[in-house]
Amino acid sequence: MQILRSNAELKLWKAAHPDCAFVPTMGNLHAGHLSLIGQARLSGLPVIASIFVNPLQFGAGEDFARYPRTFDADCAKLRDAGCAAVFAPALEDLYPQPQGYFVEPPALASELCGKFRPGHFRGMLTVVLKLFNLVEPRVALFGKKDYQQLALIRGMREQLNLPIRIEAGETTRAEDGLALSSRNGYLSEAERQEAPRLYQNLKLIADALALGRRDFEELEVQALDALYRHGWKVDYVSIRRPDLSLPAESDAQFVVLGAAWLGKTRLIDNVEAGQ
Ligand code: PAF
Repeated sequence: MQILRSNAELKLWKAAHPDCAFVPTMGNLHAGHLSLIGQARLSGLPVIASIFVNPLQFGAGEDFARYPRTFDADCAKLRDAGCAAVFAPALEDLYPQPQGYFVEPPALASELCGKFRPGHFRGMLTVVLKLFNLVEPRVALFGKKDYQQLALIRGMREQLNLPIRIEAGETTRAEDGLALSSRNGYLSEAERQEAPRLYQNLKLIADALALGRRDFEELEVQALDALYRHGWKVDYVSIRRPDLSLPAESDAQFVVLGAAWLGKTRLIDNVEAGQ
């Protein structure tokens, strides 16, 4: 596996591998990332992952400084997973000057997580577009755990006519249901025990929807109450259509999304539901 530390090194690799599958990450890799690498390999293309903790998508007071950086361990995992290259640019490579041009996202970027992390999706889309332009992949893969991120990337691809196929990877979960996330490492032992409750409550809603319940607000409030009772600070629990627009009683397919804090750790998750 080749480790590419700069745009120049990436360019050389690209000359030998013009067509590739791409898995962008911020590092601190877990089984969810590695399953995306496995999925990318099914394309038959050489797989390149990126590791870059993007300051543009962190707000003031968020965890940019303490975000876990585990580069050597990440490279070992990527190598074992059959990745052909890892692109790990320096900050100056992606941002040689202060970024003055941005991807301006639609209103969806101010809902759900966007309501609580202003600017996050603008910064995320901007770096993803920059990475796409540098790596020029034929296919790029993103996990469904970041469901809103995936929806916005798909929208950007469509509306900006990007010649890239976007593939979604299923959420990888621990045995107790907790969605794997780089931020799970922040949890204390007691918080880690408590953490699956977010998934459990989203799943309860998804099961109720599948059985035909359509009292969306009541279902959301029940989940909020259950989480509050166990010490969570909830940003939102929301039932949406798969495209993240607001649902109607006549709908048959949904996604139930939630974001909530356990102590100093913000967890997000979602469960798809259908009849
Ligand atoms: O999901 C992530 O890890 C990041 O948001 C991404 C897509 C790599 C952009 O920085």
